[in-house]
Amino acid sequence: MNPGSGSRASAPRAAGNAAAVLRALGLGTLLVACLGSPVPWGAQEEAPRRVLFGSCLDPSRPHPILDTAARMRPDLFIFLGDNIYADTRNPAVLREKYAALGASAGFRRLLSACPLLATWDDHDYGVNDAGRAFPMKRESRRQFLDFWSVPADSPRRAHEGVYDAAVIGSPGRRLQVILLDTRYFRSPLLPGRLPRHTRGPYLPDLRPGASLLGEEQWHWLEERLREPAELRLIASSIQVLSEHHGWEAWANFPREQERLFELLRSTRAEGVLFLSGDRHFAEISRRGEPGLYPLYDITSSGLNLRFPEAAPNPNRYRLDGSYLFENFGELEVAWDDADPGLRMRVADLAGETRLAASIRLRELRFAP
Ligand SMILES: [Fe+2]
Repeated sequence: MNPGSGSRASAPRAAGNAAAVLRALGLGTLLVACLGSPVPWGAQEEAPRRVLFGSCLDPSRPHPILDTAARMRPDLFIFLGDNIYADTRNPAVLREKYAALGASAGFRRLLSACPLLATWDDHDYGVNDAGRAFPMKRESRRQFLDFWSVPADSPRRAHEGVYDAAVIGSPGRRLQVILLDTRYFRSPLLPGRLPRHTRGPYLPDLRPGASLLGEEQWHWLEERLREPAELRLIASSIQVLSEHHGWEAWANFPREQERLFELLRSTRAEGVLFLSGDRHFAEISRRGEPGLYPLYDITSSGLNLRFPEAAPNPNRYRLDGSYLFENFGELEVAWDDADPGLRMRVADLAGETRLAASIRLRELRFAP
């Protein structure tokens, strides 16, 4: 499909927002490497109003949900990780799996609808539950950056890992997108099961040196959070706020989780919303922490990989249940309203709402 025709022509606002996102992230030739032609974006500078996101996509299986997402006329789609299932230590296999995603007609149609941003999780980083010790991580990083067409001169290529960020829009309606890397620097997980309520194979790791982001990324994140923005989407491949369940999540690193909360307090960063994936079900978590406004973590997983027979773990922060089948997440921001609203939802294969919550943007501010 020629991205310069068809639905693109009927979606000028999306095109303009897309251009701003791409310029800020240095992704002016997004996906050129796999698609062969640059996308002719418009010139508007508005912050995105409709942001879609999802995770856990195996391109070798049918994935009609990407067409559902494309029909929503999004301004942006964020891939939260497990964007392919490479599960390999062989660079050629990784390349083949990326090629399959790049060749997907549904993926190309989504590309024609909006810009695509991405971070990774274990299955596109390397192998299940992999962390900093994964021996092929430099090759994985190279292929990730090439597939997502990160330019050779992008700052994203100047540091280890794949984290990145950008602020889009003008004062009063600025959206910051922060893409975390929870793999490249992550210390080994601590195996073991708690006796009762957990189901996964990992314990909370309180050992000195246990780390999710690594010092360099922490320092970078602090700088990003000090930048002005009205709304900040922090994309973490793994769940940020969920109760400890023993599967991969920030809850396996309680000190890192608390460090994140403390960083929000110390930087006074407002408007933070977390987006996560990985779990093969969807849920919205809402969590109160001392000295912070309410925190939300919208988990959307998977785009086409689901395991409905596996009941979700207990999570005392969960709002309104969970959804076990194919899904994607959506955020809609009513920037034009005097008191802007923010609608978050999880949509199914038909685009119908399965989970939802609506708040005002001002609810994500510190108490005066
Ligand atoms: Fe994962």
